[in-house]
Amino acid sequence: MKIRQMLPSDLPKVLALERRTFSDPWSFGSFLATLANSQERIFVAAMGSELVGYIGLWRMFDSVHITNLAVKEEYRRQGIGLRLLAEAEKWAGGFPLTLELRANNTAAKALYEKFGFVVCGVRPGYYKDGEDALIMWKELKVDSGN
Ligand SMILES: CC(C)(COP(=O)(O)OP(=O)(O)OC[C@H]1O[C@@H](n2cnc3c(N)ncnc32)[C@H](O)[C@@H]1OP(=O)(O)O)[C@@H](O)C(=O)NCCC(=O)NCCS
Repeated sequence: MKIRQMLPSDLPKVLALERRTFSDPWSFGSFLATLANSQERIFVAAMGSELVGYIGLWRMFDSVHITNLAVKEEYRRQGIGLRLLAEAEKWAGGFPLTLELRANNTAAKALYEKFGFVVCGVRPGYYKDGEDALIMWKELKVDSGN
């Protein structure tokens, strides 16, 4: 499996996985716009010609927001989510990572916690259907020098 920056030719596959995964998916235009914005980046996980996952990132001031993360159902629990997060952290270059997720999304919460994120707040009724969002945050590692 290879993790690399998303190319314009990946758009149809990324969009298909987005639509399969989320009830309120991003549009073609939203993904296209990320390709033209130096503050945004999407990394994809590819196995040969198959796109098995992706992570969307948006650098805002002094933190990097994870805008979307998905792994194809048949490839889950194989460490791909963690590898995408590691790539995100590398791109963040020392800035903290943050995201919002649905309060009932136990799989994603477990993944983020395993990677070192902590819940630092709640946005009540954040989603269109009224569900709360949890705000999660991962501080950059401080090297103690020891
Ligand atoms: C969340 C998601 C990206 C995880 O991807 P993944 O490739 O399966 O994650 P990994 O294999 O790297 O999981 C790493 C660890 O996270 C935790 N984890 C992942 N999925 C889990 C689940 N369904 N239940 C409990 N813990 C889970 C486990 O600790 C796991 O380690 P383990 O398999 O050794 O127990 C995937 O389930 C997904 O695409 N979900 C739908 C979209 C989504 O919710 N995205 C997040 C929006 S914020």
